Amino acid sequence: MGFDWTDKRVLVTGASSGIGAALAERLAASGAVVGLVARRERELAEVLERCRVHAPSSTSWAVDLADLDAVDVLARSVGDAFGPLDVLVNNAGMPNRKGVLDIDADMVERVMHLNYVSPVRLTLGLLPAMVERGSGLIVNVASVAATLSSPGEGAYDASKAALAVFSEAMAIDLWDTGVKVTTVYPGVVDTPLFAIPDNDPLPPDITPIPVDEFLEGLLAGIDEDRREIYVPAWFKDVVKHKVDDLDRFLAGSADYVRKNRD
Ligand SMILES: NC(=O)c1ccc[n+]([C@@H]2O[C@H](COP(=O)([O-])OP(=O)(O)OC[C@H]3O[C@@H](n4cnc5c(N)ncnc54)[C@H](OP(=O)(O)O)[C@@H]3O)[C@@H](O)[C@H]2O)c1
Repeated sequence: MGFDWTDKRVLVTGASSGIGAALAERLAASGAVVGLVARRERELAEVLERCRVHAPSSTSWAVDLADLDAVDVLARSVGDAFGPLDVLVNNAGMPNRKGVLDIDADMVERVMHLNYVSPVRLTLGLLPAMVERGSGLIVNVASVAATLSSPGEGAYDASKAALAVFSEAMAIDLWDTGVKVTTVYPGVVDTPLFAIPDNDPLPPDITPIPVDEFLEGLLAGIDEDRREIYVPAWFKDVVKHKVDDLDRFLAGSADYVRKNRD
């Protein structure tokens, strides 16, 4: 089994940096025509230039995805430029490494808005054309934070959990339409996400995996036509332990936080 990326029209949000930029370049090199979305025009232009070496009709849209009207305009513009998409990768997102005593309701709303409401809005805008054509793949980049309730980032965890659950429900609703939905759960990946200001630092004992290693896992999961992809895969075992004994899991997590703090 394998996913043939040749001539596939793929929209990747959050393509100016980190996972999205690396994925877009990898897919262009594999034969896809890519559409790139993010806010920063210069960074987008640099990624686009590298993609166009392989896929000259690739294009980009500089859009603030927190602006829902702009998301609607984007969906129409992508349809006009690309026709029905083959693959939508909802990857753009913001971190929020702040404990519950250091956040306020506005912050929670901002995170939920960008990490959940916006990708759902974009998906709903692009989905009808996929369904009408009877094929498509929607890849939603959640996080292990969605299923492991990572300490010190509750607002982020909840936004990714919302995206993941919506994603699973959508997979079922669309089961017989030819449009597939895959939810991705990255662990800790070495990207500029951890340099974004106003976020607590990562615990010192965590070593992020390289982006290329993450992409290997992601693309292998797509090749295998998986609906759920954990990278690294062992995180799924941690989720099973959590489900088996939540009290023990929460106590262990609190102990881990205490050791890192003291
Ligand atoms: N790195 C990890 O360990 C990790 C783990 C789990 C999940 N994830 C998820 O993976 C995805 C990619 O993250 P990354 O690690 O590659 O981080 P990154 O390098 O910071 O990339 C984030 C991307 O999202 C875009 N973005 C942020 N806010 C945006 C907005 N308002 N409008 C449009 N685009 C916006 C950024 O572009 P602009 O700034 O140019 O707009 C950038 O291209 C995120 O959803 C993240 O939550 C990452």
